[in-house]
Amino acid sequence: MNRKVTVVGGAGNVGSTVARCIADKELADVVIVDIADQKASGIALDMYQSCPVTGSDSRIIGGADYSATADSDVVVITSGVPRKPGMSRDDLLNVNFGIMKAVTEQVIKYSPNCIIVPVANPLDAMCQAVYRLSGFPRERVIGMAGVLDSARMRTFIAMELNVSVENIHAFVLGGHGDTMVPLPRYSTVAGVPLTELLPADRIKAICDRTANGGAEITKLVGTSAWYAPGAAAAEMVECILKDKKKIQPCSVFLQGEYGITDLFVGVPVKLGAKGVEQILEIKLTADEDAALRKSAGAVKELTDVIGV
Ligand code: NAI
Ligand code: 2OP
Repeated sequence: MNRKVTVVGGAGNVGSTVARCIADKELADVVIVDIADQKASGIALDMYQSCPVTGSDSRIIGGADYSATADSDVVVITSGVPRKPGMSRDDLLNVNFGIMKAVTEQVIKYSPNCIIVPVANPLDAMCQAVYRLSGFPRERVIGMAGVLDSARMRTFIAMELNVSVENIHAFVLGGHGDTMVPLPRYSTVAGVPLTELLPADRIKAICDRTANGGAEITKLVGTSAWYAPGAAAAEMVECILKDKKKIQPCSVFLQGEYGITDLFVGVPVKLGAKGVEQILEIKLTADEDAALRKSAGAVKELTDVIGV
């Protein structure tokens, strides 16, 4: 194929799911990079061998050597320690920052023109680290969180109303943490605002469950989620490679939008071939705005700790 996507950390749970989704959709050739060299090579081979069955001509290779990643169109970074039960995303900060330093250096050496999609947690702070370390323009560093968080909200709404998930649109803004900001006013079922379909207490329950969506899975499984995160990152890759211009909530470097400056926070953006092609500023109520600022404040505390 003439497009190439690298997944760093691709031998892990989220990374291998991203790689699999990309190959299943035949979006690009996939290079799986991981310090677990043999595992990366084995997972890539296994995945490649599934392609004759699924009917995909994506070629998949894996290993620890970055030279195979040269000239990737998109690089997804999932390398990092996942959250264990009782551990907050923020506990991961310093260890995953060290991993970002090592990985970003190699990524930009071999693919200076790529678009980077960080996934490792704490998400917004890791995006800011990659942005500062890479020196890339802000259009080309786009964090995955809002697509996942809004997918979780869509699922909970579908469960509550017993309707197709395809009918549901949901918006979640802010940092990827307990302070994220689900927006029921902008969430719709077949175009009808959620606020007209459910009482306030049910909406609040859905918003709370969304904000705790990652912790809920971690408690059940013993490590953090991978199916929905992997699918969400692959969806972003698809928007970029197909130049879809789709509006998606993503973590991007704000420079005055929403009154927030020099910080990665989740907001709606137009995703296309150039990466972030537009940041959409939707009108927020005073309460929503206060919640977004609080969430941005939580991200800033982390970026201050690692000095990015
Ligand atoms: P995992 O442990 O299954 O996979 C991580 C992989 O990274 C491992 O294969 C490991 O060998 C590799 N790795 C570690 N250091 C590396 C380095 N220096 N270079 C290359 N590879 C390296 O973890 P999992 O579950 O896949 O999660 C990965 C990250 O994604 C975690 O930080 C997790 O918190 C985060 N995450 C973020 C989500 C989001 O919404 N943004 C959702 C789910 C997970
Ligand atoms: C999640 O939301 C832990 O960030 C990860 O599943």
